[in-house]
Amino acid sequence: MNLFRKKAIADILKSSSTEAQHSGLAKHLGVRDLTAFGIAAIIGAGIFSTIGKASADGGPGVIFLFIFTAIACSFAAFAYAEFASLIPVSGSAYTYSYVAFGELFAWIIGWALIMEYAIGNVTVAISWSDYFTSLISNATPYKVSEWLCLDYFTAKASYIKVMAALLGGSTIEQIAANSDLASSMEGFYAYSSAPSIGSLKIIFDAPALLINVLITWLVYRGIRESRNASNIMVVIKLVVVVLVIVVGVFFINTENWNPFLPNGIGGLLSGISAVFFAYIGFDAISTTAEECKNPQRDLPRGILYSILICTVLYVAIALVITGIVKYNELKVGDPLAYVFEKISSLKWLSGVIAVSAVVAMASVMLVFQLGQPRIWMSMSRDGLLPPIFAKVHPKFKTPSFSTLFTGLMVALPIFFVDINMVTDICSAGTLFAFMLVCGGVLKLHTDPNAPRSSFKTPYINSKFIIPALFILTLSLVLVYAPDWLGYYFKFESWSSFFTKLPMYAFFIGFALISYLAFRYSFSLIPVLGLLSCFYMLSQLGSKNWFYFLVWLIIGLVIYFAYGYRHSKLIKRA
Ligand code: ALA
Repeated sequence: MNLFRKKAIADILKSSSTEAQHSGLAKHLGVRDLTAFGIAAIIGAGIFSTIGKASADGGPGVIFLFIFTAIACSFAAFAYAEFASLIPVSGSAYTYSYVAFGELFAWIIGWALIMEYAIGNVTVAISWSDYFTSLISNATPYKVSEWLCLDYFTAKASYIKVMAALLGGSTIEQIAANSDLASSMEGFYAYSSAPSIGSLKIIFDAPALLINVLITWLVYRGIRESRNASNIMVVIKLVVVVLVIVVGVFFINTENWNPFLPNGIGGLLSGISAVFFAYIGFDAISTTAEECKNPQRDLPRGILYSILICTVLYVAIALVITGIVKYNELKVGDPLAYVFEKISSLKWLSGVIAVSAVVAMASVMLVFQLGQPRIWMSMSRDGLLPPIFAKVHPKFKTPSFSTLFTGLMVALPIFFVDINMVTDICSAGTLFAFMLVCGGVLKLHTDPNAPRSSFKTPYINSKFIIPALFILTLSLVLVYAPDWLGYYFKFESWSSFFTKLPMYAFFIGFALISYLAFRYSFSLIPVLGLLSCFYMLSQLGSKNWFYFLVWLIIGLVIYFAYGYRHSKLIKRA
């Protein structure tokens, strides 16, 4: 059994040039287009929505998280850029892993990417719905009923929470004024007012489903996000984000920045997945490699420029919104619109933000929904999935079956998951993909027969730096946080052991990577990318590791039942 059979880079380049000739992909993207495309994919639900909860938990200090995450993403971006310039084809991390690690890892990464894009779109669709419904209620005399605005389980949990408070003697007014319970009111009303079939309440997020159907239909019909359309959307997003910053600066009350880190490091770190989610998307640039004029030169620049621009904007936005209102008010689905609603002279801006958020998020969905069927298609072309996934519509020239399947994959979770859960799972899958891409670059560097990429990450020898960093981290923990270490060394119960498992995995991984860095004199930047993504992954909580693991196991079952036996590599061998 050969689970690690690899694709040769030369074969990939040869078949991709034949495919490119057939598909007629035009090479017209330059560095400016790529940066714009990156921003189109990056700025979306993260900054318009999930940043709200991250700021409420972390306080104004959430900017540190934005900066740390940007640095980690830049490390990973170098690895993406190096691979993208070595193998400028559209399969992204899936194709890279096929070369670096072989088929099994390629399958795993393809499977993780499918989850990143599908679950990512669930998050974006739910956030889109938040902005859309608040737009309807602010700009028209209508209001979307609560039972049509959120998922069943959130509504039920909120109902139970509010009922408990009511039974405890609180009044509805008191609950609505309580910052911990206020966010449950919508779910309470949804559950109380929902129609039912028998004993089952009908509650679902109708606008989220609607936008998903619409985007799926567009993608199916072949209305591709052209360069110009993408650039226009980026301009709209940037104008609004800059407007929020420039106007918002005048309404900052610096007292709101005090305390800067109200819930300490723990509160800050609970926002990791939301903040990381805000950066996801730069990796999508690498899928355009076949359409670039000069991928070797422009892809790395496009990726890094778009991360840099987004970081500056994100930090500024975080400072503005936590400066205008107190951080603990920000646990809302539409924080940017929310803060301006508070300023009576600027209610109009809140409306402008809501409209542009609806456009911005639809564009992110479009990018993700376009990217996903391409991955299904690449895997199907390699024989790892049934041929129907590579079927192209005779008239619309789109991967028709994969596109519809993708739409279904996004639609189903909308019925039963809440936004925090999908954000976490999407971030977990993406971090895992980033780790593999960084690891893949390191593996290629150690292979003397591997072809050389024309873009090379600046080499700094990590031989001593990484082991020293490991020892320094351990020493700091020993000196400054012995309780923390004691907590991790103490066995209390199996459930607490599983909670701690991600952190154990990180430390064991750190030790192993230090050893390998010492042994092979690894290049520092990809090692730091690997470690920082691993660290973020370890902070996402064992529950998300578990969900991700279940997803992987389903994938492995499909691989062994189908992909392994139908792989094109077998037939060639
Ligand atoms: N970064 C993208 C967003 O925030 C996924 O919507």
